[in-house]
Amino acid sequence: MNRAVESFLASDPAAAHSAARVGVPRPHESAHLHVAGAAPYVDDIPEVIGTLHAALGLSPVAHGRLRAIDLEALRAQPGVVAVLSAADIPGANDCGAIVHDEPILAQGEVQYLGQPVFAVIATERELARRAAALARKVLDIEPLPAVLTAREAHALGQYVVPPAHLVRGDARAAIEAAPRRLKDRFTLGGQEQFYLEGQISYAVPQEDGTLKVHCSTQHPSEMQHVIAHVLGKLKHHVQVECRRMGGGFGGKESQSAVFASIASLAAFKLGRPVKLRPDRDDDFMITGRRHGFEFDVEVGYDDEGHILGVEVEMLTNAGWSADLSAAVMGRAICHFDNAYWLPHVAMHGYCARTNTQSNTAFRGFGGPQGAYAIEHVIDTLARRLGRDPLEVRRANFYGVGERDVTPYEQKVEGNVIAPLVAELEASSGYQARRAEIAAWNAQSPVLKRGLALTPVKFGISFNVQHLNQAGALVHLYTDGSALVNHGGTEMGQGLNTKVAQVVAQELGLSFSNIRVTATDTFKVVNTSATAASTGSDLNGKAAQDAARQIRERLAAFAAGKWGGTAEDVRFANDQVEVNGQSVPLQELLLQAYLARVQLWSDGFYVTPGLHWDAKAMKGRPFYYFAFGAAVSEVVVDTLTGESRLLRADLLHDVGKSLNPAIDLGQVEGGFIQGMGWLTMEELVWHPKTGALLTHAPSTYKIPTANDAPAVFNTRLFDNSNVADSIHRSKAVGEPPLLLGFSVWHAIRDAVSSVGEHRIDPPLRAPATAEAVLDAVDAVRAAATPAAEPAAAETAGAV
Ligand code: MTE
Ligand code: MOS
Repeated sequence: MNRAVESFLASDPAAAHSAARVGVPRPHESAHLHVAGAAPYVDDIPEVIGTLHAALGLSPVAHGRLRAIDLEALRAQPGVVAVLSAADIPGANDCGAIVHDEPILAQGEVQYLGQPVFAVIATERELARRAAALARKVLDIEPLPAVLTAREAHALGQYVVPPAHLVRGDARAAIEAAPRRLKDRFTLGGQEQFYLEGQISYAVPQEDGTLKVHCSTQHPSEMQHVIAHVLGKLKHHVQVECRRMGGGFGGKESQSAVFASIASLAAFKLGRPVKLRPDRDDDFMITGRRHGFEFDVEVGYDDEGHILGVEVEMLTNAGWSADLSAAVMGRAICHFDNAYWLPHVAMHGYCARTNTQSNTAFRGFGGPQGAYAIEHVIDTLARRLGRDPLEVRRANFYGVGERDVTPYEQKVEGNVIAPLVAELEASSGYQARRAEIAAWNAQSPVLKRGLALTPVKFGISFNVQHLNQAGALVHLYTDGSALVNHGGTEMGQGLNTKVAQVVAQELGLSFSNIRVTATDTFKVVNTSATAASTGSDLNGKAAQDAARQIRERLAAFAAGKWGGTAEDVRFANDQVEVNGQSVPLQELLLQAYLARVQLWSDGFYVTPGLHWDAKAMKGRPFYYFAFGAAVSEVVVDTLTGESRLLRADLLHDVGKSLNPAIDLGQVEGGFIQGMGWLTMEELVWHPKTGALLTHAPSTYKIPTANDAPAVFNTRLFDNSNVADSIHRSKAVGEPPLLLGFSVWHAIRDAVSSVGEHRIDPPLRAPATAEAVLDAVDAVRAAATPAAEPAAAETAGAV
């Protein structure tokens, strides 16, 4: 924990607990429940008598024609109450978030190995699973040729959405006229969300054909929409509720829909409560994850490392359906610049359609993939020039008042990249450690150390304008307690805590007097997903709007009763200062109630000033930018390929923090998750069958507490938001994930030292031990004159 937060909490725990303003490092609103195992998740809700359990029968092949399902064989299994297939869907068999290309249960064709084809409903979960596991036996599928990789699909011109292009200036001419050129190709792996609580939905029939669905989802309104469509019902028939998720990380933005709609379909058909909680392996097999990318880049640059022109082709495996891939690619393209001004740039994005899981949102939503590419390029340029990568990064930073317009033509306002990086460079002792590491490596033939500093610039807002809206309800009871409800969802990120602090600040309430209730489509309606890190920006402002309206009414009433002017009435510490008197808030509320003053309000917010031409990819997609930087030091064993993060120094900009304790948690968590993506989380599909082979914790490794560095310095950059955001704070959910780049670059730096920094290590991402060994071997081979062919392979210079 950050020392400032630690000392605040230690100095006066009682005060820390009751302090309810914004800017105070309070614990998470549910922390006391989380640690006691008393915070209910969907599977903890007591089951209604008569509850049935669903399990999904999955396609055992990547592509094929579905000829028949032996439903009788399934119905004969112990405990089975019903078996549902596409034919049982009364409404639309589709849960495509943007493009309607996503059947909920396969119809006609199966399109990936793992696709749900039928649902078994049984008296017990275990019995449902046993029957569903007979899929291979009961499905009659005529195999069809499958396309399993993005490259294959690209060659066939097979995409889920048309290619995207963003062009500024004349990249081709700039590259050709440049004194130096680089042509490179590299790949980047995907990432499993690995939320601790898996996907789950529990649908309970209510009166008059209505349905209540408890769903672990980042997007209750979308679940309501899909369920209504599937059942051929109106939205007011479908109540979706989510109190909290045990993590979402983007994986429950659109892809909770298949589980929500099948549980609802079964509940509707059978008139009984139905729960669907897939096993972790099935969760992996059914749902998609972060998109892996492949890049082809060509860069023109000068002797100082200034990028003069760059052309990049980004190819991603979207999977079998469009899902959110177009938006992910859009964000990748809009983050290729990262912290750098690119005078001439041409970007082309291709979302390949293949017979694999449909990839989806994951923390950063394509932004990390785009930014990774330019960081990879800069690292390579630096080596070609024999300079420290930090020098080359700095040479390309966005300027202030000049060189400050992004390729999509938004000005980078409030740019603090240079001062933030300078501060971190000093506080981390970057220059001195660079020299120490060089000396250490010179006397260490097997273990090699590496160091890297990487910056982050991340745009905040949904690229789709209409999603940037939010609503809230604030209810004040006459005893001075408040109930808050808003459209955002809590997934551990602390959104409810921040929104409660905003309301506390407006009404002068102590924290214990505020309760934030479950997200519910029967309360605040037509909500956006809690995504793109906009949760507290949008819902905080909406709740503030609601609280302000109540405060203004109360102030007018108080001034009328006790004298003075409404503007001078002050709310703090559950007291009201009015005309020189201090009145307990409770008393004011009681008086106001008797005088029939409305003590509750709705609130609404839209982000101002956004516009976006989706075709040309120009406009102002972001309300503002968040910045950050990280320095990582690693040690690599060049005989085993193992690597370890020794020290990390993070400096991140959250504007004026709403809650420094929660923000530091987001920064550290995002960094570690980014590191996991780039260093150890590897996805492998069988090259012939298309089966995901890394489908459980036994084969897929995420970071643990042991992977956190022994020296871990995390600080928030002293800043404010130039945009009028909620209390001038900045979104923090996703941007810190990109800080993890520094770990990958530090590993590449360590491998690079094997060849005296003269050979580009062809290091893949993730930099698993195997990838590191391959890169070490390639560098060694290129460094020894006997190995000419390998040298030719790794050298990409034109
Ligand atoms: N933090 C936790 N603990 N769990 C999560 O699932 N999701 C991340 C981020 N931080 C996540 C998290 C993602 S992908 C996003 S978009 C934001 O939180 C969403 O919440 P916010 O908009 O309130 O920051
Ligand atoms: Mo976050 S990937 O926008 O849910």
